[in-house]
Amino acid sequence: MYAKLFYLIIATFAVSILIVLYYSSLQSEEIYVKLIEEHDIEPSSNDLPQKLYDILDFKYVLNNKSLCTADTETLILVTSYFGNVEARSAMRRAFSREELDVMKIKRAFLLGIAPSDKYTSQKSVLDESRRFGDIIQGSFVEAYRNLTYKHTMGLRWAEQHCSNVKQVIKMDDDIVVNVEKIPDLLKSLGVPSSKNFIAGYVLRNMVPIREPANKWFVTQEEYDLSTYPPFVSGWFYVTNPYTCANLFNISQSMKYFWIDDTLITGILAEKLSIQHVDIKANFTLHSEILECCINDIRSKNLRCDILIGPNGGKTNLFYDFNTAIGICNLNLCPDRTVPLDKTCIVKRKETLGRGNPIVENYRLS
Ligand SMILES: *[C@@H]1O[C@H](CO)[C@@H](O)[C@H](O)[C@H]1NC(C)=O
Ligand SMILES: *[C@@H]1O[C@H](CO)[C@@H](O)[C@H](O)[C@H]1NC(C)=O
Ligand SMILES: *[C@@H]1O[C@H](CO)[C@@H](O)[C@H](O)[C@H]1NC(C)=O
Ligand SMILES: *[C@@H]1O[C@H](CO)[C@@H](O)[C@H](O)[C@H]1NC(C)=O
Repeated sequence: MYAKLFYLIIATFAVSILIVLYYSSLQSEEIYVKLIEEHDIEPSSNDLPQKLYDILDFKYVLNNKSLCTADTETLILVTSYFGNVEARSAMRRAFSREELDVMKIKRAFLLGIAPSDKYTSQKSVLDESRRFGDIIQGSFVEAYRNLTYKHTMGLRWAEQHCSNVKQVIKMDDDIVVNVEKIPDLLKSLGVPSSKNFIAGYVLRNMVPIREPANKWFVTQEEYDLSTYPPFVSGWFYVTNPYTCANLFNISQSMKYFWIDDTLITGILAEKLSIQHVDIKANFTLHSEILECCINDIRSKNLRCDILIGPNGGKTNLFYDFNTAIGICNLNLCPDRTVPLDKTCIVKRKETLGRGNPIVENYRLS
């Protein structure tokens, strides 16, 4: 009798504790959201503060820890500027989350924090995150010289929250990719699971710019050797979670360097003795070539074999290119008899590798 009463009291007590805990977690969720809206950052309870180079208390401001699922095969990390809502929107319109799911692909946008302006605010980024669940935002301020934080955060995130995938793609939000051909590309690369691997547009014999007036000026203190080790362009490259983990680990004992692709896929990769796989042949350096492809598909249904290229400042090109090329991906387009670069006029010279000089000479048509 007393024993029963005793258990009843214990049970009631336990249930009340659970209820209190539940409500206090709701309250802290509200506080967290409010803090975010006011541009303050509060660590979410499961994220232990961690070091990201010299940021000792690095935190995720926005995160979706359950973005990747057990059947996800490919993670696409897109480094995206806080304010580039249109670029993210063009990518989402070209391929929705559901369409990517069919290809067993998950996409995450990597952002930093920034003060609100008349075009965008933390509140709109938060709305975007709630709507699409694909934003990973780190507690560092958006800046060109902070891109290494963003890139390293992506590697860390892949290792922490998406380590079951076969391959990880890192790309920029101003790069156009023939998404439906990604599975073919990955298949032909045969990405290993427990071996270091990086495939991309390989850049060799690149030299640091030592001219102070240049916006890409690198001081001896920042980088003191005369050439960079081979690296791949941060535009688009393919790796695996194993390499992400190794690159993140080695980054912890290395000096910060702001040219992120050179540091991560070059300097850090060299430490890990990684030999890059070159997929230059699948790139174009010119947005005009992509536009010619679109026109040729629309007017003559001609095939386009380009997988990756820059958007040249045209945010909608990702959408337009994927929409047009969708026709050809159904194998409805005949081969072209004259190569693209013979019929397409390229006006602009694009530079790869964050504005570093390219020692090789590209032949522009
Ligand atoms: C996280 O991503 C998954 C998709 O993999 C989605 O179903 C879920 O709603 C997202 N969570 C949040 C909180 O947005
Ligand atoms: C980079 O981020 C750090 C941490 O948020 C910030 O203190 C710094 O001002 C940023 N750098 C630039 C160049 O804005
Ligand atoms: C990438 O380029 C190579 C060399 O031109 C080509 O053989 C391959 O088919 C291309 N990959 C895809 C997926 O188009
Ligand atoms: C991490 O890097 C350190 C050097 O910075 C190295 O000694 C250690 O073996 C690495 N750990 C793993 C798990 O790779």
